Amino acid sequence: MYRTHNCGELRKKDIGKKVILSGWIQNIRNFGSLFFVDMRDYFGITQIILSKNLLKINNIIISLGKEFVIKIHGEVVERHSKNYNLNTGEIEIKVSKIEILNISIPLPFSIVNKTDGSEEDRMIYRYLDIRRSPIKNNLIIRHNISLMIRNFLSMKGFIEIETPVLIRHTSEGARNFVVPSRNHINKFYALPQSPQLFKQLLMIGGIDKYFQIVKCFRDEDARSDRQVEFTQVDCEMSFIDEKDILIFFETFIKFLFKKVKNIDLEPFPIISYFDSIKMYGTDSPDLRFGMKFFELNDLIQKKKIPFLIKQELIVGIKTKKCECCNTYNKINSILKNNINNERFFWIKHLSNKTFIFSNKSFLNEKVCFFITKHFKSDPGDLLFIVYGKKKESRSILHKIRSEIANHLNLKNNKEFKPLWIKDIPLFEWENNRYKSIHHPFTSPKEEDLHLLERNPENVRSKSYDLVINGIEIGSGSIRINKKNIQDIVFKHLGLSKEEIESNFSFFIKALTYGAPPHGGIAFGLDRLINLIEGGDDIKNFIAFPKNNYGKDVMVNSPSFLDNDKLNELHLRY
Ligand code: AMO
Repeated sequence: MYRTHNCGELRKKDIGKKVILSGWIQNIRNFGSLFFVDMRDYFGITQIILSKNLLKINNIIISLGKEFVIKIHGEVVERHSKNYNLNTGEIEIKVSKIEILNISIPLPFSIVNKTDGSEEDRMIYRYLDIRRSPIKNNLIIRHNISLMIRNFLSMKGFIEIETPVLIRHTSEGARNFVVPSRNHINKFYALPQSPQLFKQLLMIGGIDKYFQIVKCFRDEDARSDRQVEFTQVDCEMSFIDEKDILIFFETFIKFLFKKVKNIDLEPFPIISYFDSIKMYGTDSPDLRFGMKFFELNDLIQKKKIPFLIKQELIVGIKTKKCECCNTYNKINSILKNNINNERFFWIKHLSNKTFIFSNKSFLNEKVCFFITKHFKSDPGDLLFIVYGKKKESRSILHKIRSEIANHLNLKNNKEFKPLWIKDIPLFEWENNRYKSIHHPFTSPKEEDLHLLERNPENVRSKSYDLVINGIEIGSGSIRINKKNIQDIVFKHLGLSKEEIESNFSFFIKALTYGAPPHGGIAFGLDRLINLIEGGDDIKNFIAFPKNNYGKDVMVNSPSFLDNDKLNELHLRY
């Protein structure tokens, strides 16, 4: 028997009990004839007291080290100097017998909450990192949230169905990972970017509501909210429209926040894609702080302000009562390292109704007066104004807004501001061709269908994104369920008849067998958990993540294959 109790459960009421515990040595304090040892397992830490004599074998004292695995027999006694930070801190174990179950070589970093381990070492020795409470607890949280999701969706009539991982290469937006095959010369499987087509085929197969907590694979650059291998909560429903989906999944997200954090989220605002770009310069706005965009073109025209009058867009934000930014150098330094663009200026409205402002030839006290009046700014406020082409200016001002919020500590990770983005265009024009903004299976809005053939860039789609605190947490759409519409969309995407035939014939055929109206959404599970828990990197909620170069530095993947394997897979040409 390895244990009668675990290392996290003994309390004052257990004093006098004879117990057996097994676990790792977290820490040893040597008091001459006695050792005080912190013994740790999955459940917690218990202090044990060892007499040196117990470690004597043939008159030699065997030494213990950190992370040795031991089993002890002993008696629960009251602790003299109590540690109320530990659940077991009122007791300790007087050891009568110790057995070393395994030893450990010296550790690359300390197994404590605030470790001295570098990110690289923590990834190479991830199994040691998982022994630390913060990472272990994150995995427990992930398990609990996944379970809540499964239970919630199952209760609402969704069934979880697994879809294949070895599929065929199809374009969905990102790059596919491909898998060579031994038996099929020169042919490759692909790993799914998402189960998109399979979940639609399930609806065509008559399944009413599907979900899956599923691994997705995208060959793209990783960063703090993006992994090459990540998990989606993937959902699809038949006979529903956009409104039904937004209502249902708003309830779902509210349920999770209430259950996990006891937070009652406010109703989610719905903002159109165009309004979001106009008001925040992004389709993923962070609503925790105001600073909506103000357009100044009318004012500039009216006052005939030279230079600015020639710009396509002049747009700015107002930072209220920005007291800490009160000198020219201080204000200039806020954005110096982060905004790599010269096409903006700032005006600080001082308390004596004068201004300090960027060093730009077109700026003077009079221009500042007009602009601050237009912004209805008060003394103390700081304005940032960008000028130039529309798209670029909005995108720069979005970056400035975000940097200012960082500077003023406005991104409180305990505050949550969700919103839906809707009416997203079906296509965008990029590198001289149309690209789907969501994916090629997204339905156009009925009211824009007449534009689809000749004016595709003006067609809005039935897609929606859930954004929380500036992060896209989920995204979905009502799907095309008619072959003729799908054909036109493929045509605009530049797919030839042959390409459609070879890549999608199975799917197009399925659409012709009475495909029901259907739609769905997928949430990024790693992102959702990281957000709920106020984390700053999804890696911390993934047991074995890849690093930002898409590498697993523990198993050292990806790796080269030897010649024999390459030959077997027909990969040597
Ligand atoms: P989309 O590509 O927008 O939609 O993905 C849905 C959600 O998945 C998360 N996500 C990621 N999380 C971590 N790392 C990544 N590399 C990554 N890429 C995406 C985001 C995103 O909102 N099939 C469609 C969904 C649908 O139409 O139903 C899809 O995959 O949170």
